[in-house]
Amino acid sequence: MKIEAYEEVFLWISGVVLLVFLAALVYAAVGMHIHVMGRAGEIDPRLVSQTPPFDNPGVRETAPGKYEAVMIGKAWSFTPKTIEVPAGAEVTFRATSADVDHGFYIDGTRVNLMLIPGQVSVMTYRFREPGTHLIICHEYCGLGHQFMYGRVIVK
Ligand code: CUA
Repeated sequence: MKIEAYEEVFLWISGVVLLVFLAALVYAAVGMHIHVMGRAGEIDPRLVSQTPPFDNPGVRETAPGKYEAVMIGKAWSFTPKTIEVPAGAEVTFRATSADVDHGFYIDGTRVNLMLIPGQVSVMTYRFREPGTHLIICHEYCGLGHQFMYGRVIVK
């Protein structure tokens, strides 16, 4: 086999692999309805502080045992910085960014969102045990990125 023939084989293999990946992606999105999670609405990022519910960030009880935590990420802090909920609380986080892309990961949970200007991200999680969880910005957002954190205190 001449060397060019090997090259052709590898090109075909590469092409087939790409097609298999594309098919898997389309199947996941269309067939299994798997999407990037959290996107729940749009907002004008210049008017975050005037747009409900972000004009009044914080935690409120929406039903017995159920809470909504409205949070804003802005370089380089979360508002509110600390939230407190009782153990067993089911908390729906509703969050957005007022400037650039930020991450929103709550240590020890599966809550992991992107806060993107113009987008409202939502995720619900039940805090079963008392304890303190760090909220970490995991998307590089500038000079103060490593100081951008918050806390969920479960009592
Ligand atoms: Cu916000 Cu990194």
